[in-house]
Amino acid sequence: MRLIIEPDYEKVSQWAANYVASRINAAHPTAEHPFVLGCPTGSSPLGMYRNLIKLYQEGKVSFKHVVTFNMDEYCGIPRDHEQSYYTFMWTNFFNHIDILRENVNILNGNAENPAEECARYEEKIKSYGGIDLFMGGVGPDGHIAFNEPGSSLTSKTRMKTLTHDTIIANSRFFENNVDLVPKTALTVGVGTVMAAKSVMLIVNGHNKARALRHGVEGGISQMWTISALQMHPHAIIVADDPACGELMVDTYRYFKDIESANLDPATQLK
Ligand code: GLP
Repeated sequence: MRLIIEPDYEKVSQWAANYVASRINAAHPTAEHPFVLGCPTGSSPLGMYRNLIKLYQEGKVSFKHVVTFNMDEYCGIPRDHEQSYYTFMWTNFFNHIDILRENVNILNGNAENPAEECARYEEKIKSYGGIDLFMGGVGPDGHIAFNEPGSSLTSKTRMKTLTHDTIIANSRFFENNVDLVPKTALTVGVGTVMAAKSVMLIVNGHNKARALRHGVEGGISQMWTISALQMHPHAIIVADDPACGELMVDTYRYFKDIESANLDPATQLK
């Protein structure tokens, strides 16, 4: 695992955007062989999306041959609801880049048969040969996508019930009213994320410090699904200083030290 530590959220966002753009460019994607990107929602990736839009506007990256798969979607709210992940993605990212509409994949949280919808999603990911880079955030309870504590570490796309903690955390997007937050969602599984060729998580803010500690220093546990990343051969966590607040000083120094010697092309794309 690589842990990239940046001083603040803006630097985290720039690093992540540069990394994503450099991966897309290095793959030289075509219509026949697109780059397959897993996309998260939430506040954590917003800065990265802003920076990716800027890189696109500057001509440094194109999404024409990029296929996306979103991590998750709420059940029971219409697709055009202002808090649906569909609306989030088009408003904050897709409307501002050259992605082709037919290359965007988002789970249908209102599917008549959710199990079928989830199976279809897994099959479609497979039909592209898997996901090249799965991007993500993390919940304060360590969940990736909506894989709440107790989720199987080999799980695939399915319906999940949100924990009370997550409902409270996400109520800030629903007029701070827990009753308005959907109680279920369709989500890729931990196993779906683990099957990607590479994974990059954005972890920022002091309220994520505990999750980061469990992800980096803790044992692998279904109670902190972020910790599954320890088993992934190509996992990167990009974190800001406040999110590192619960790491041991030695852990912090160790990652700072090895990354200072790493000449990643991502950091040179600016
Ligand atoms: C939701 C999403 C997760 C996201 C998490 C953190 O629960 N399903 O994918 O990582 O929120 O959100 P934020 O980045 O807003 O803290």
